[in-house]
Amino acid sequence: MDTLTITRYYIPAAGVAKKTLCHFSDVHLTAYDDLSTPEEKEKALQDTQGWMDTRRFFAEKYGCPTGEAQMADSRLQFSRLIALANTVDAAVMTGDVMNNVTPADIRATETGFAALTVPFVSVCGNHEQADKLPDGMLLSGMKQPVQVVDLGDLQLVGVDNSDRIITPEQLAEVEALLATGKPTVIALHVPMLTPDNYAAVYGCGEYFRMNDFDGCPPENDRFRTLVSAAPVVAVLSGHLHFQCVTEIANGVVQYGVSQGITGNVHLYTIGE
Ligand SMILES: [Fe+2]
Ligand SMILES: [Fe+2]
Repeated sequence: MDTLTITRYYIPAAGVAKKTLCHFSDVHLTAYDDLSTPEEKEKALQDTQGWMDTRRFFAEKYGCPTGEAQMADSRLQFSRLIALANTVDAAVMTGDVMNNVTPADIRATETGFAALTVPFVSVCGNHEQADKLPDGMLLSGMKQPVQVVDLGDLQLVGVDNSDRIITPEQLAEVEALLATGKPTVIALHVPMLTPDNYAAVYGCGEYFRMNDFDGCPPENDRFRTLVSAAPVVAVLSGHLHFQCVTEIANGVVQYGVSQGITGNVHLYTIGE
């Protein structure tokens, strides 16, 4: 686990018995295996090489290391992250676990999820479309527009915003979940704009944000207002491939974790 880049946070939450969440994102599995066709293997090898360059680009742009540990195969990074998650109380994955949703990517993801011994939520990223995912598997939970994992005195709510859209149905479902008053952690792929991330995120282009773009539905902004107040205790996001942690409003912080493909991970101790 000393190969991972772990950032720890403490999030006070009244009424929650202390528990620790493991949050990672953007592993971008480009897997192949014995069941892969020669064409699938060739494509996976090409994409693996492509992600060597892309992950290095992001890491160097944001002053992060690019040593042997950070450049390890995506499947090895995934297994390291799963092993760390198994040492805490629950895992949250905020999208782009798979790069292309190939049959081998699905098998590699399912193997990782099967190795998890703790409750978990995994939301779709823009590299994963819900309609491409099979039914009847552990990863099939990613097909749901809203997922809920109940940890007793804390609920994890995953929201699929992989196409940068919050639908009226998703908004209504999240509203109902928050109306219970239960302390809540929200998980999504594409981050929201906040007063303090505006400079860093807006300039990346609209692909990297879920607010303030042409055609942005009003539900997106209503969602941001909804999740930036109690009972939400934290919003977890991915997609940026760099670490970006800023307050949304009312003391609620959006924790954007950097790319899992180089071993970045957050651990949150939540509670009192
Ligand atoms: Fe990504
Ligand atoms: Fe993404």
